[in-house]
Amino acid sequence: MKNDELRVFLGGDVFGPVGMRCAASLLPSFLAAEGVDFCVMNGENASAGIGLSPEDGEALFRCGADVITGGNHSFEKRDFWPYLDSEIRALRPANFPSEGVPGRGWGIFEKSGFRFAVINLQGREDMGALDCPFRAADGILAGLPPDVIPLVDFHAESNEEKEAMGLYLDGRAAAVAGTHTHVQTADERLLPKGTAYQSDLGMTGPMRSVIGSDPKIAVKRNVTQVLYRMELPDAAGALRGLLLSLDPETRRPRSVTRIEIPEVSP
Ligand SMILES: [Fe+2]
Ligand SMILES: [Fe+2]
Repeated sequence: MKNDELRVFLGGDVFGPVGMRCAASLLPSFLAAEGVDFCVMNGENASAGIGLSPEDGEALFRCGADVITGGNHSFEKRDFWPYLDSEIRALRPANFPSEGVPGRGWGIFEKSGFRFAVINLQGREDMGALDCPFRAADGILAGLPPDVIPLVDFHAESNEEKEAMGLYLDGRAAAVAGTHTHVQTADERLLPKGTAYQSDLGMTGPMRSVIGSDPKIAVKRNVTQVLYRMELPDAAGALRGLLLSLDPETRRPRSVTRIEIPEVSP
């Protein structure tokens, strides 16, 4: 803890080799310099831009992530399925069907003398037909002991759905932060009842890209409407996310700071 503050960092989607390079080169020094007590990284695009491999999951933990969240690409890599079952620090969205789906959607994690509940949910607007994320959040939050600090990664396409989730959980979760769009939003704030909120944490990945992919191919694909194979650019990247400062007595957020740390050179 730094200056009687509890500090939490929520990092946006780690994308491909550039994202992994940024996590390795920027995250450890950032966490140390800021005195971060607990770090959650979204890792759904870490391995070649789609999904997460057990090896990249282990590497993200070594970089300082305490928990890795997922999203619509959580099940892309088949060898990740047993990892999701065995590694309690790796999550996938909680509102997948309750039976027959590998892994878990939330967990309670102890660090620095505090207990954090990390809850991973996925939206439904312009996404898959999952169970209701609002009711899933209700069910999880209702069972949490009062000392636990709930942090929600809401992996969703729609800003409308994300703002609705933020206000729905205002006062019940310490933080509701969006992931998935890879475009960092400038709407970080404390909601009226004290929940820290940002519609999208942004991407930890290549800066000159189209949400992570090589711009030349991505533009051609959009102009022609032909599904050219996306390629991964080797561009300079950035670490992006949200830094929370919480009161250690009340375990409530005091302030939020949007984080974007670019690499000096690729
Ligand atoms: Fe996603
Ligand atoms: Fe993503």
